[in-house]
Amino acid sequence: MQSTVIAPSILSANFARLGEEVDNVLKAGADWVHFDVMDNHYVPNLTIGPMVCEALRKHGVTAPIDVHLMVQPVDRLVPDFAKAGASMITFHPEASAHVHRTVQLIKASGCQAGLVLNPGTPVEVLDYVLEDLDMVLLMSVNPGFGGQSFIPSALEKLRRVRGMIDRSGKPVRLEIDGGVKADNIAEIAQAGADTFVAGSAIFNAPDYAGVIKRMKDAVAG
Ligand code: DX5
Ligand code: ZN
Repeated sequence: MQSTVIAPSILSANFARLGEEVDNVLKAGADWVHFDVMDNHYVPNLTIGPMVCEALRKHGVTAPIDVHLMVQPVDRLVPDFAKAGASMITFHPEASAHVHRTVQLIKASGCQAGLVLNPGTPVEVLDYVLEDLDMVLLMSVNPGFGGQSFIPSALEKLRRVRGMIDRSGKPVRLEIDGGVKADNIAEIAQAGADTFVAGSAIFNAPDYAGVIKRMKDAVAG
């Protein structure tokens, strides 16, 4: 099992002062920055692109930036995000014509690669590519918006993917995204996640450090 990572989704941050928000959440104990890219095509919302990622790097952010691509097609944006300072890039198999090729493209660009499974996407999509991945991201909401409720069937899916990763013997991270809160993170961790995205639970709280500590304590049990 990998070390615990808390990755606040900046989708719920105040975009008018994004650099400061990211500084504050990292000072408060966050490990990564989760960066949601939406294209109003693959998902019905529009957010931020490589320029904003680059701006965060220029601002001085050194923490890993976890770029979650909810875009179709995928490949064209990979080199741009790698140049902009992405540490890892995850994408949805439904949005790529050639999943294996996209994984190799991300790795060749110098980033870690991850595949994202929507609530309705079967885990079998991981067959034949799991061993090439650095991370699997399970969505516990349908992608497109922050602030939705955790879909309970994600727990069973986490247990299944945890088993697949353990059997592979590879150091693949298992990330969960959507509706993660301080009061459900313990059972999510018990189901096998080691990397936790949380947007509204952190950025809508008055005290980022307090929520992140409660989350880490709950995972540690
Ligand atoms: C949804 C995004 C999530 C979202 C999570 O499509 O991928 O990262 O920001 O937000 P919360 O934690 O509020 O569900
Ligand atoms: Zn996300």
